[in-house]
Amino acid sequence: MEEGLSTPVGTRRSFFVKTTMVLSSLIGISLAIPFIGYVISPALRRRTQDWVALGKVDQLPIDEPQALDYLMTVKDGWQKSQISKGTWAVKHADGQVTVYSPICPHLGCGYRWDRQDRLFKCPCHGSVYDINGAVQAGPAPRPLDTLPSKVENGELYVMYQEFKSGLSKKVEL
Ligand code: FES
Repeated sequence: MEEGLSTPVGTRRSFFVKTTMVLSSLIGISLAIPFIGYVISPALRRRTQDWVALGKVDQLPIDEPQALDYLMTVKDGWQKSQISKGTWAVKHADGQVTVYSPICPHLGCGYRWDRQDRLFKCPCHGSVYDINGAVQAGPAPRPLDTLPSKVENGELYVMYQEFKSGLSKKVEL
């Protein structure tokens, strides 16, 4: 008799308790997901870079590659750091500018412009490139890597990127 009376009440009460717990959990989860996303998404996001000013275009000599270094702010998740980077910039006769990564596509050494021979030369394994980045000699598997660049109000900007070495195609790291 007692069991008969108490069972429906107990069942209803436990139903409300369980429903309340489920609803509370759902509300908690729906609040937690955006918060967790906000906290961890920068850490999961790929390293991002911005346009960096390299200098005035009208100060670049024509057909004479210039080594242009600059400090770049790199955002990696929540962290920001400043890194010194180099580029080679070539202003052509038509005023267009090509900016090269300073890293040899063979195995990643730094190369130099030989003013006398008018060639880029890598000291590590002897790769040689012309002023347009085309391979002239050595084991380099591809031309010099160009970097995204633009000119705004007479200022040259570059977006720094790095590429895998040793491949015949440009593949960004
Ligand atoms: S790294 Fe430049 S030739 Fe090998």
